Amino acid sequence: PDGFLSDTLARPLHDLRISVTDRCNFRCVYCMPKEVFDKDYQYLPHTSLLSFEEITRIARIFIAHGVKKIRLTGGEPLLRKNIERLVGMLANLRTADGSPPDLTLTTNGSLLTKKAQSLKDAGLNRVTVSLDSLDDVIFKRMNDVDFSVAQVLDGIDAAQAAGLGPIKINMVVKAGVNDHEVAAMARYFKDTPHILRFIEYMDVGASNGWKLDEVIPSAQIVQRIQDAGMPLKAMAANYAGETAERWQHLGSQSEIGVISSVTHAFCQDCSRVRLSTEGKLYTCLFATHGHDLRALLRDPANHSDLAIANVVASIWQARSDRYSELRSQQTDADQEQRKKIEMSYIGG
Ligand code: GTP
Ligand code: 5AD
Ligand code: SF4
Ligand code: SF4
Repeated sequence: PDGFLSDTLARPLHDLRISVTDRCNFRCVYCMPKEVFDKDYQYLPHTSLLSFEEITRIARIFIAHGVKKIRLTGGEPLLRKNIERLVGMLANLRTADGSPPDLTLTTNGSLLTKKAQSLKDAGLNRVTVSLDSLDDVIFKRMNDVDFSVAQVLDGIDAAQAAGLGPIKINMVVKAGVNDHEVAAMARYFKDTPHILRFIEYMDVGASNGWKLDEVIPSAQIVQRIQDAGMPLKAMAANYAGETAERWQHLGSQSEIGVISSVTHAFCQDCSRVRLSTEGKLYTCLFATHGHDLRALLRDPANHSDLAIANVVASIWQARSDRYSELRSQQTDADQEQRKKIEMSYIGG
């Protein structure tokens, strides 16, 4: 059933985010804190993972429903064995107008020096790299595995050289941990081809012990950068429902973004759906329950895509999620009752 879907709030479906592994070689304090993700943590067994063929089949169904952009996430997506093969399979898909989907990937950068060129050759369009500080002491405190800044910067260079730019750099800002690095990061990436984005620390998952007073509001980020002598001018959005508000450095072509999921929610135009590593479909980053597509894929009755396509359509058409908009109205007790899914599982 080709055609475009709309949810109960008239939001279209444009963006499919696929988590290809729930594992990561970092232990970022805001995502996979060591105390929870320790050596006894139960990751998904290999047999629960969707195969590349299964992922590609789901992607094909979503593209027929109007998806134009696919993002691979995790965990750390470059830890999935032969990820280039999946990239190649997805790059071969075609939207209704005959073009390939916009294919991107969010990574911590640790394996980019090794993999940037092979990912580009396989058909990846762009990468987004997480980097929370330029200071080794702070960066290591945040990734909690002693990974150095220089290695990530080398990865970013390798990705740019391979043609995976313009690269977006994601910095999660956590008050009292790396927020004094905001201006230094802005200065470092100004006049590079990269786009630095400051992300408000979110209450995603159930293990990071999030507190509202650890969030630095985006308005303050913009103010601090200007106060540090880098005047900024607001830019128009690239598309409706963009996560980042864009700002341009005056007198430069270079831009930054702020992602204000806490202080200025962008649910209104949210066109994103997420597929977990084991094939559960989530209509919100903060969803507490997913729809099991893997069972449908593995049911021999569904040898054609039609039945699955119909299920996907009805899930999207019933969607009413707008968690970030409602968060401020919730009590702490409401919050505690929700069993939120970890970001490393559902995909960033
Ligand atoms: P591009 O516009 O292609 O850069 O995509 P993007 O902004 O969605 O990219 P990215 O995956 O880098 O998202 C940046 C960050 O924004 C994520 O890591 C999340 O922290 C946050 N984010 C992305 N999507 C959502 C969403 O749907 N809801 C909320 N609350 N936060 C999101
Ligand atoms: N709040 C905001 N952003 C987060 N990310 C992971 N956990 C959080 C959180 N609690 C971001 C990472 C990365 C992307 C995958 O998601 O920094 O850029
Ligand atoms: Fe790994 Fe990314 Fe989570 Fe950090 S934010 S622990 S790099 S998945
Ligand atoms: Fe979309 Fe949910 Fe994020 Fe709102 S909170 S923008 S609905 S994923």
